[in-house]
Amino acid sequence: MSPTPNAAISPERLVETLRWRYATKKFDPTRKISDAEWRALEQSLVLAPSSFGLQPWKFVVVDDRALREQLMAASWNQRQVLDASHYVVFAARRGIGRADTERWVARLAEVRNLPVDALAGLAKGMAGFVASPPAHVQLDAWCAKQTYIALGFAMEAAALLGIDTVAMEGFDPPKYDALLRLPERGYGAICGLALGYRAADDKNAGQLKARFPLDQVVEHV
Ligand SMILES: Cc1cc2nc3c(=O)[nH]c(=O)nc-3n(C[C@H](O)[C@H](O)[C@H](O)COP(=O)(O)O)c2cc1C
Repeated sequence: MSPTPNAAISPERLVETLRWRYATKKFDPTRKISDAEWRALEQSLVLAPSSFGLQPWKFVVVDDRALREQLMAASWNQRQVLDASHYVVFAARRGIGRADTERWVARLAEVRNLPVDALAGLAKGMAGFVASPPAHVQLDAWCAKQTYIALGFAMEAAALLGIDTVAMEGFDPPKYDALLRLPERGYGAICGLALGYRAADDKNAGQLKARFPLDQVVEHV
């Protein structure tokens, strides 16, 4: 690993890339993301951060075209589901509990070559959090929030590779859940992400980037 990976891009280029990104309405169905780039994008999902590191998510890459057609029908017929090079359904853990925190502690111990006992404090803290969360935390919603972090991470990673995306919340979650058999595996669909390359005639590409002014959004105190 490079000791200075954070020097990979200039501030100007970063902002230029973020302005280049837009919600792609029409993908070029003939262009596919290369295998090497796709592998890197999957790593952006794996490497996304989450609270406690718990990763309460599953990313379902839908390779099957017939399934993509069914998902498109459950997405207000938005064509990006079918025309993009890749389509990923972001699913969040439902009913997170002690088994999840223990699974994570076991993995941490394995990767860091530690006895599980060395992680007892963390294990207790996480188990306590899921057993009796703070009053403001609703656990299924909390898992969905974590999952949106991975969505943003993947969208930015794609933009840095020059790959277009659109996040897709416009779908019927129970239909997605049924098509992907998510509830029986303890997950629920929360968002889709279509990735690929903009069509030359995508009208959305020419729209001016509209945001509230920076001083209304970012404040210094
Ligand atoms: C969580 C989320 C869900 C979205 N769902 C859809 C969608 O279903 N269909 C769509 O065409 N755009 C969707 N969008 C795109 C937004 O409308 C778009 O990002 C927003 O208008 C800002 O425009 P920009 O991304 O081009 O800067 C979604 C965006 C986000 C972040």
